[in-house]
Amino acid sequence: MTNSPRIVVLIGYMGSGKSVVGNLLAKQLHLPFVDSDDCLESKTQQSITQIFEEQGELGFRKMERNVLHELLTDNQDKVLSLGGGAPCYFDNMDVITQHTLKVVYLDTSIQVLVERLWKEKNHRPVIAHLDSKESLTEFIGKHLFERRPFYRKAPIIIAVQKQSPSEVVQQIVDSL
Ligand code: S3P
Repeated sequence: MTNSPRIVVLIGYMGSGKSVVGNLLAKQLHLPFVDSDDCLESKTQQSITQIFEEQGELGFRKMERNVLHELLTDNQDKVLSLGGGAPCYFDNMDVITQHTLKVVYLDTSIQVLVERLWKEKNHRPVIAHLDSKESLTEFIGKHLFERRPFYRKAPIIIAVQKQSPSEVVQQIVDSL
């Protein structure tokens, strides 16, 4: 019997479904759902966009790193959804897997990401400047090429294509 908190971490690109799937998963596992961006926003009383504007991306990444550390060490059970870039900076991915092996990468197809993100790109500073679906598709393709080596360190990888969120949740529960 161990006293370690029960933490399930969800990682994946923006638009991969971490919030929707994470909320459902948390209900099913009877755990609280926590989102690292929401924590950062309530801590600073600023939106992610404002933080990027005022501190630059590096400032944001340092704050994100601190919040990640707090959330992994606060001794609270939880389903934790991380901002899409969090696993890809500093040694964050190693720190995450040192705390829990229940790390799930939602490997959502590029087509699905483009459709979802095109509608809601404006509040995501990393992609807000892209002005056509073609440029968004190209950007995501290149960005995933850089980020996948980090995401793929997750012990659990779920390929997301046409499944419903509850089907994805069931796949995760079966893999935990
Ligand atoms: C980012 C993803 C966002 C947020 C920030 C940067 C990224 O989180 O942390 O805009 O670099 O991929 P979501 O993945 O929850 O949209």
